[in-house]
Amino acid sequence: MAEQLIIQGETKQERYEALLPQIKAVIEDEGDLIANMANVAAMLHETFGFWWTGFYRVVGEELVLGPFQGPMACTRIKKGRGVCGTAWQQEETQVVPDVDKFPGHIACSSLSKSEIVVPVRQGEDIIAVLDIDSAELNTFDHTDRHFLEEIVSML
Ligand code: SME
Repeated sequence: MAEQLIIQGETKQERYEALLPQIKAVIEDEGDLIANMANVAAMLHETFGFWWTGFYRVVGEELVLGPFQGPMACTRIKKGRGVCGTAWQQEETQVVPDVDKFPGHIACSSLSKSEIVVPVRQGEDIIAVLDIDSAELNTFDHTDRHFLEEIVSML
C-alpha cells in the first residue's frame, strides 16, 4: 500500500478518477469495514479539503457516528432526521446546495454550508451513510454523486 496520497488533476472529475484506483488498492486487501471507512474518509478529506468527511453507521433505529475527518460531530441521528437520516430513509443520495434550505437539516457546525450524503448498501440493506460537508455553498453536484456512489460500493 502506498504510504503517501498524491492526487493531481485540474478538474474535480480528474481528481476523482485519480483517487478511485488508490482507494481500491487500499481497501481491497483489508476486510475490516471500519478500517476501510476510516481510510476512505481520510483520502477524500485530504484530496478535496472538505470541511467534514465521514460515516454514520446504522445501529438499530439510529445512525451512529463512525470514522470521520474534521471537527467533532453529533453522535446519533434518527431515521428520517436531517440530511443523513433522510438519505437512509429514502435509500437515495441527497445533494444539498444550501443546508439552510433543507428542512430539518442538523447543524453539527454552523460553518457547514452545503452537503452530500450517500447511502452505503450491503445487499438489500443500508448499513451506513457517507456524509460530506463543505464550508461553501453549492459544492456538490452529479460528479460527486457519481464518484462517491462508486466509492461506497467498493466498501
Ligand atoms: N448535517 C447532517 C448531520 C451530520 S453533520 O453534518 C456531520 C444532517 O443534517 O444529517
